[in-house]
Amino acid sequence: MVRFMVLLASVIALLLCNIGNAASQPPTSSVSHNVVNFGAKPDGKTESTQSFLGAWAAACRSLRPATVYVPKGRYLLKAVVFNGPCKNRITVRIDGTLVAPTDYRALGNSGYWILFSKVDRISVVGGKIDAKGAGFWACRKSGKSCPVGARSMTFKGANGLEVNGLQSLNSQTMHLVINDCKNVVIRNVRMIAPDESPNTDGIHVQESTGITITSSILKTGDDCVSIGPGTKNMFMDRLLCGPGHGISIGSLGQDAVEDGVQNVTLINSLFVGSQNGIRIKSWARPSTGFVNNINYRNIVMRYVNNPIIIDQNYCPDNIGCPKQTSGIKISGVTYKNIQGTSKTKVAMTFDCSPSQKCKGIKLQDIKLRYYLNNQKAQSICKNIQGTTTGVILPYNCL
Ligand SMILES: *[C@@H]1O[C@H](CO)[C@@H](O)[C@H](O)[C@H]1NC(C)=O
Repeated sequence: MVRFMVLLASVIALLLCNIGNAASQPPTSSVSHNVVNFGAKPDGKTESTQSFLGAWAAACRSLRPATVYVPKGRYLLKAVVFNGPCKNRITVRIDGTLVAPTDYRALGNSGYWILFSKVDRISVVGGKIDAKGAGFWACRKSGKSCPVGARSMTFKGANGLEVNGLQSLNSQTMHLVINDCKNVVIRNVRMIAPDESPNTDGIHVQESTGITITSSILKTGDDCVSIGPGTKNMFMDRLLCGPGHGISIGSLGQDAVEDGVQNVTLINSLFVGSQNGIRIKSWARPSTGFVNNINYRNIVMRYVNNPIIIDQNYCPDNIGCPKQTSGIKISGVTYKNIQGTSKTKVAMTFDCSPSQKCKGIKLQDIKLRYYLNNQKAQSICKNIQGTTTGVILPYNCL
């Protein structure tokens, strides 16, 4: 236990000092296109969208590997799409901050602020992006009619993608979205939004294969990481989550025909004051989807509402699902060495579908306690089959 805590402390220390280093190296690529040379103004007030597109076009048609370089300063960008395919490898190196317009309506209704579409072999290195989401959250809260909301940075149809050292602040909706991508590495990123900001997921992944996320800090108003349908071969290491709604597989089963989630691993991570820890969540409706081969290992919970949870009865506002059961088949989920404290008395919840039992659930060395006076916690098991080894606290209900 002590050894494990020391390991985790060193992991977190390493993680913290890695953040922000990426941006401090000078551009190294052979052809560099500085956005300022295309007219961008680093004053945070003059719109620079067209200048960024100019630098992008020059880099994208380069036969040699090319860099789009953003020097120090603040650059005002409206909704922008960087389209591929490009002729060679592209690096977007950002030493400055990209800011959205103060009026949230100016990002329009496309659902995106910064979108990279169909670009292979792309690296985004360094950079801060500030979507100034507060006005949009307030609009939603007021019940007025609002735009759909913009995801801050999205990659769609990218093959061979690296995001290193990005910091994202106050996204209107999700911070970073990976959709329909292959071979993705995300490291040293930091996604920050207030606890109560709606739908500000840190990193959302769907319909993608081969995703690594390491050494990152996710403090946000919705899921720290959300893993949607069609995610395969995903590896996460050294993540810090909280505030936020946890690292979630789901929500799945919203559609009747849906791709599954398979081979997802999370290790050496820390949850602090988050609503959930490790969660699998599905709508209570029929679906062809599934969850298979999921591994959680060496995880510490501090004051987390639901440290371990499978919830297959998700039915917000009781619309579209009452009296139905989830068709999502959950199998092969291993929880190993999960320790710490629960903010509620129930530290472990397995609320599986009555029509599709959770199968092959493995628990090994689980030590979770209720935070108040370090009391014993409880567990709930419904429609679940599995095995345990080692110490299981709270009391094993499998
Ligand atoms: C599972 O995913 C990891 C990457 O996270 C990959 O290295 C491994 O080969 C995958 N396993 C299978 C059986 O596909």
